[in-house]
Amino acid sequence: MKKAKKTPLESEVLMREMVMPGDTNAHGTIFGGKVMSWIDIAAAMCASRHCNNPVVTVHIDDIEFRSPIHIGAQVVIKASVNFVGKTSMIIGVKVQSEDPYTGITRLTTKAYLTFVAIDESGKPVPVPGLIPKTEDDIRRYENAKKRVQSRKDLGKVLES
Ligand SMILES: CC(C)(COP(=O)(O)OP(=O)(O)OC[C@H]1O[C@@H](n2cnc3c(N)ncnc32)[C@H](O)[C@@H]1OP(=O)(O)O)[C@@H](O)C(=O)NCCC(=O)NCCS
Repeated sequence: MKKAKKTPLESEVLMREMVMPGDTNAHGTIFGGKVMSWIDIAAAMCASRHCNNPVVTVHIDDIEFRSPIHIGAQVVIKASVNFVGKTSMIIGVKVQSEDPYTGITRLTTKAYLTFVAIDESGKPVPVPGLIPKTEDDIRRYENAKKRVQSRKDLGKVLES
């Protein structure tokens, strides 16, 4: 049976972490791998909430570290479904650092991840369609569509 379409809001994930000494690199700022791990977890929870199935990461693209995050800062990770295919979902993740004493926030990282919904035997299964509702949803949907196309185009260029 075909699953009912959903809006991005229905599966949105908002996660908050704090940068502890063990999360940092030699410069006292956050280790990039730690941020990537939080991104993957937030995005996986979001994808899984959209399709109500187990999911696996198949692709991570466009991960961009724009500014460092310092020890003691709070980290706010927002994940939402940007686009869906038949069995795949593109999840956009935005990471912000927040100084808990001033409340000042800063965009630090953006990433786009593709997940596939799987059944008990690890085979891809169809996911519900997406209803981009707000202006932001529509902008993210259109950008994700272009990202899928440009990845296909790049694949052709690299193969030839
Ligand atoms: C996910 C998996 C089951 C898909 O199997 P597959 O035989 O490639 O399946 P398909 O070719 O039918 O592709 C399924 C979907 O994934 C998409 N996909 C597969 N590989 C992809 C990639 N590298 N990048 C983006 N999308 C990809 C396909 O476009 C297709 O999307 P659609 O159904 O929405 O059109 C298999 O690739 C796998 O198990 N990968 C390992 C996942 C993993 O271990 N991740 C790390 C830990 S979570």
